[in-house]
This record gives sequence, structure tokens and C-alpha cells, in this order.
Amino acid sequence: SDTHQLLLLPGDGIGPEIMAQAVKVLHWLRDHRGLNVELTEELVGGASLKAHDTPIRDEVIEQARHADAVLFGSVGDPAWKDAPFEKRPEVAILRLRKELGLYANLRPAKLFDALLSASALKPEVVRGLDLMIVRETVGGVYFGEPRGIETLPDGTKRGVNTEVYTTAEIERVARVAFELARQRDGRVCSVEKGNVMESGLLWREVVTSLHKAEYSDVTLTHMLADNCAMQLVRDPRQFDVMVTGNLFGDLLSDLASMLTGSLGMLPSATLGAENEHGKRAALYEPIHGSAPDIAGKGSANPLAQILSLAMLLRYSLNRPEDAELIERAVSGVLADGLRTADIAGEGDARATTEQMGEAVLKKMAAQA
Ligand code: NAD
Ligand code: IPM
Ligand code: MN
Repeated sequence: SDTHQLLLLPGDGIGPEIMAQAVKVLHWLRDHRGLNVELTEELVGGASLKAHDTPIRDEVIEQARHADAVLFGSVGDPAWKDAPFEKRPEVAILRLRKELGLYANLRPAKLFDALLSASALKPEVVRGLDLMIVRETVGGVYFGEPRGIETLPDGTKRGVNTEVYTTAEIERVARVAFELARQRDGRVCSVEKGNVMESGLLWREVVTSLHKAEYSDVTLTHMLADNCAMQLVRDPRQFDVMVTGNLFGDLLSDLASMLTGSLGMLPSATLGAENEHGKRAALYEPIHGSAPDIAGKGSANPLAQILSLAMLLRYSLNRPEDAELIERAVSGVLADGLRTADIAGEGDARATTEQMGEAVLKKMAAQA
């Protein structure tokens, strides 16, 4: 079969530490399951700023465009906290999403049974949680014009960002959510603030008409974003698929992560449009950041990164068995009681990043 070209972008902070564990899994799949991959690694974020004075080089964007998939770690480094906007590590992920047209960010929040007591919620509220947040990632207030900081005549300043969504942008991401719902429990909740924002009003209108025209077999509900944050904590299992804009999706997915035990558990897939060969540009990354507070300590949870690799195998390489093998191994390791610090309870021994990665490998070998 063809060689799959994968671009690895570990980034900053804990990024390289957790990426190293995912790469071990890739090597294992290559050696034991006939996965035919060629891996290329590049610098992004603060690491690229240090070496090349830019958060991401144009040639890395081109490499990402031509790869079968991108596996991304995380970017962000306090060393650049006072740098001008274009000289910040985070520009790397924003440019990749924008320039590759990666508009649909799938953020599944699934609670592993073994982590029931690590959840921030009571077992009876959260047991069996399995929801999918579909976050729009190339529009909204992240990219709307006008934007910037200007100095006013009196010497004070004005910071501006603009929330913008077009019919086409809303429709294509809503389509992804409806399609996913058809493979799941058949329910979509669309989230906006149409009570105060015109972009939210349009969002609701476009999702409603797409539903009526093409997806009336799916159950569609609408919810205001503030209520949604509350409902996620009150009764998270009411949701199947949620579809929302860039900023609300960012906030609600970090919130949802704590229902599953930790931010260090949640993977994501960010997909672009299908090309003429039915292939989509795609990037896979944990939803968390570079965690500067624990970087270099070897204590980060690598499971969000490893589960992002599982999503890559499923969505981009059409290797569902390998994806399931990883997911079963993760579930097994957690059932054995292994815990990194973020998911450990009082009195639990704390595994290092490396120990968690090794345990997943061992479990894969045992279960294969
Ligand atoms: P963060 O997600 O990096 O960390 C928030 C908290 O969660 C920290 O206490 C951290 O230690 C913990 N945490 C995160 N991932 C963990 C893991 N795998 N294992 C154990 N604990 C984990 O958010 P932040 O601190 O607000 O941001 C730090 C930097 O990361 C910022 O520069 C931010 O812009 C950037 N960031 C990047 C991405 C990305 O690359 N896609 C995502 C979010 C934040
Ligand atoms: C995420 C991050 C990014 C976002 C930042 C680093 C640009 O928080 O991937 O969730 O806000 O999209
Ligand atoms: Mn975020």
C-alpha cells in the first residue's frame, strides 16, 4: 500500500514530551501492524521563533498542506508573552487552521469508566458521558475584521475584534455535525448567543434551514451559550453532538474536559473540505496547551496526544482497527489504575509521561 506522509509538529512546553509517546506508538504500529508511514518533524511555536524568528515558516505550512495528516503537539511559551501578535507562538496553530482551511474541529469528550472518580462531577451525573463538540475553527471573532489595537486622540487605546460568520461558513460546519450525529445518537444541539449577537442569529437561522432541507431525520435543538455552559455541568449526558462557533467551542470544550477527568485526556481532529479524491486536509492535536507550569517535569499526561493519534488513524488513514487498538489500550491502562498526576486521586501513585506511554505500548502488544 501507499506510504502515508505524516508531519509531526511537537511545538513547545509539554508538546515534545507527549509527542515522543505518540511517536513510540507510531513506530510500534509500523513494526507490528504493517502501518506504512514516513514521518517528518518540524519546529513550530516558540521553538520556531527561537530558531527562525517566526512562529511557523511558509515551507512548514506547505509541508502540512501536502502531508496525509498533521500530528500537532501544543504551542505557547511565556518567553513571548510581551511580543507583538504576529511574533507569538500561537500564530502557528492559527495559520495552520486558516491556511489549510481546517474549519471543523471535532472534540470528543468521552469518560473512561476507570476515570469516573477523577471527573469533577458526581458519578451519577457523568457516568457513560460521550459527547462530541464540533467547533468552527477558521472564522468568528478569531479572524473577523476589523481587528487591532489603536491609539485614541486622548492617548488611551481601543482593542477591537469582530465576530463574523457567513452562511457558507455556518452551513459547512453544521453539515459536519449533522453527519456525525447520524453515526451517533442522532441529536445535534446548536449553540450561539443570538439573543445579543447578529452572527448568532444568523447561525441559528442557517442551521435551522439546513436541518429542514437535508437532515430532518436528526433531532436539532438550540441553546444559548451561557445556558449551555451551565447545562454541561448540570446534566452533560443530555448532549450528543454540539455545534458552535470558534470562541464558544474553545471555552465549552475546556469545560467538558474536566467532566472526563482532565484537560490532558481530550484529543481533537480538525478537518477541512473534501478534495476531488474524497480526501480532507486534517490536523490532530490535544485540546490543551503547552502547560508551561509542568513543562520539563516529565509529569504531563500523554493520553490526549496518543488519543489524537488514534483519531488520525481513524479519520485520515482509514485504519479503524489500529485506532481501536490504541483506545482499548488506553482504557486498559486506566483500568489497571495507572495515573499521571492530573488524573490521580489522593494516595494514587503518580506515573510519569514516559511510564504512561510505555504502559500503553505494552497493553497494545498484549491486546493485539
Ligand atoms: P494549558 O492547556 O496549557 O494548561 C492549563 C492547565 O492544564 C495547566 O495547569 C496545565 O498544567 C494543565 N494541563 C494541560 N495539559 C496537560 C496534560 N497533558 N497533562 C497534565 N496537565 C495538563 O493552558 P494555559 O496554561 O492557559 O496555556 C499555556 C500556553 O498554551 C499558552 O501560551 C496558550 O496560548 C497555549 N495554548 C496552546 C494550545 C494549542 O497549541 N492548541 C491550546 C491551548 C493553549
Ligand atoms: C486551542 C487553543 C488555541 C485556540 C490557541 C492557542 C490559539 O486554545 O486550540 O484550544 O484558542 O484555538
Ligand atoms: Mn483552547
